[in-house]
Amino acid sequence: MIFGGANSQSLAAALASELDDELALVDYERFPDGELKTNVGDVDPERAIVVGSTVDSDAHVRCLQLQDAVREAGASEVVTVLPYMGYARQDEAFAVGDPVSARAMARAISTGADRVLTVNPHETAVCEFFEPTATAVDAAAVLAEPLPDDLADPLFLAPDEGARGLAGTVRDAYGRGAVDHFVKQRFSGDDVEVTPSDAAVAGRDVVVVDDIVATGTTMSESIAVLGERSAASVSVATVHPLFARNAVTKLERAGVERIVGTDTLERPQSVVSVAPAISNHL
Ligand code: R5P
Repeated sequence: MIFGGANSQSLAAALASELDDELALVDYERFPDGELKTNVGDVDPERAIVVGSTVDSDAHVRCLQLQDAVREAGASEVVTVLPYMGYARQDEAFAVGDPVSARAMARAISTGADRVLTVNPHETAVCEFFEPTATAVDAAAVLAEPLPDDLADPLFLAPDEGARGLAGTVRDAYGRGAVDHFVKQRFSGDDVEVTPSDAAVAGRDVVVVDDIVATGTTMSESIAVLGERSAASVSVATVHPLFARNAVTKLERAGVERIVGTDTLERPQSVVSVAPAISNHL
């Protein structure tokens, strides 16, 4: 039986359909003091699959509540799917006195799960914070599906070296094109400098691929550089379309032609589903 968190209802439904499993009707309410109230109804699941992107603090709490509720309902196996794992980028103590927030979140979630799956975490090493180790699901190939068939001399570009593998995965799924990466230096959350490679981009359709678009700074800088170099078009493909604050506006102002995201986060740009990739692990 599938139990979706409040932010992952569409993906939970897609997964239920993919697995031909039952979709539980979860109630998400709030007590008068602001605390979250979550109810899974009168169910008797054998295996419970909890699907919840922990995109904010409430989503984290809902995830823990769901895990507990399904165990209380008698589930003998609880599989927790974190389509998007919040805090995953805080995978070390960056300054004296900092927590390793990703580890803290992983430990909390581990207490209620027999298995954990997460989709394209920023660093796969974050899986080791879970007990037992979580499985990273690579769903990036699905980002090729919505791209038009007739991209001109396509270039699949990563904004930094860390995303080059993702760009290669999308290129392979698309079937043709080159792969390259820029060099990125981040000075603060909103201040990023991208240094282009010497790849020729004039007249080419470029697809910039990254695991996550958060503030949109990385992508908008990349799009601007590609525009200056006369790319024919720039598309953005991202596994996790977080789009914090005015990220979409930044991309549009920079001149993006299309934005393609998955449903790890439910946004208007979430045009493809990671449900098939997740179901392969269930
Ligand atoms: C970090 O290296 C990630 O791969 C992304 O590039 C980053 O999280 C994007 O963040 P933003 O949209 O805030 O520039």
